[in-house]
Amino acid sequence: MIANLINQLENICKEAEIEIASIASLAQLNEINIKFLGRKGLVSKLMSEMRNLSPEDKPKLGQKANEVKGKITEILEKKEVELQASEDEEKIKKDKIDVSLPGTQQKIGGLHPLTQTINEIIDIFVHLGFTVEEGKEIEDEWHTFDALNIPKSHPARDVQDTFFVKSSPEIDCSDNQTVLRTHTSPVQVRVMQNSTPPLRFIAPGRVYRNETIDASHYSMFHQVEGLYVNENVTFAELKGTLLAWAHAYYGPEVDLRFRPSYFPFTEPSAEVDVTCTMCSGKGCSVCKQTGWVEILGAGMVHPNVFKSVGYDPEKVSGFAFGMGPERIAMLKHRINDIRLLYENDTRFLKQFV
Ligand code: DAH
Repeated sequence: MIANLINQLENICKEAEIEIASIASLAQLNEINIKFLGRKGLVSKLMSEMRNLSPEDKPKLGQKANEVKGKITEILEKKEVELQASEDEEKIKKDKIDVSLPGTQQKIGGLHPLTQTINEIIDIFVHLGFTVEEGKEIEDEWHTFDALNIPKSHPARDVQDTFFVKSSPEIDCSDNQTVLRTHTSPVQVRVMQNSTPPLRFIAPGRVYRNETIDASHYSMFHQVEGLYVNENVTFAELKGTLLAWAHAYYGPEVDLRFRPSYFPFTEPSAEVDVTCTMCSGKGCSVCKQTGWVEILGAGMVHPNVFKSVGYDPEKVSGFAFGMGPERIAMLKHRINDIRLLYENDTRFLKQFV
């Protein structure tokens, strides 16, 4: 009886040895452990025969069982080390990084061409000693028109051009309705109301006009307003400031041309052209063969504007200007349709990154 049981134990051990030799993964290792050494495993099952043995045979079987268990455990452990090592090796092979391979290029965004243009315009004026101010896009008629010497009868106030904001019936009936500002000039009024001369600032921002949209018109666009107020400000200073700006922006070879014009809030007023940078002033389709392109309006601040903010026009004088960054950006980048600036087509935008 005991000899038979010991023989069976030896067979179990051999069987285990063969099975362990043939396994290929750590998961299988556990299954084999359970099959041979588990609580209901082959060795334990055999040990239930113990109670049928004589007292002197019992320890013999116990001893053999421990020997077999020890042996199987030892083979399992050895196999585990082997399998672990080869699995680690596999993993290292799979995860190996070739540091000499080119990386995946990350796409980074860029500033909108118009934002770039506005930032460049601002930078130059900041270097010329101008501060940067902000006004309100939703304005009232007084700041947008009346205070700027634009009378009620002026065509610019027409509903055709101006977006009126219906905020309440009370405001709608008043003669100071809420509007979307049609230009950045009301910032002049707001800043002057809140400070005393001398002052020198630019005010970039959005403006709105009830325009029919086409290649050169949009219902929302930008302006950069400028104002300098001090004692004895001259038109020569206006010319010098704008020329210094143009040389910094376009290069020292460009010139400016001041054409007499009319704006209600300046007297005298001028429309200002810069040498066409496409043809260096020789004449081309962009400048319609004139050699010049218009980029801004300017002039000496009208006494009525000073009066409306409580400044004494006998004591102070000043110059103002307003430029159109859309036009400046379009000329610079040869963009022939203003709508491209607002469609957010990445095929267009990524040319400027
Ligand atoms: N506000 C004018 C416009 O919308 C532009 C302008 C012209 C602004 C002359 C000025 C200026 O400050 O002096 O078209």
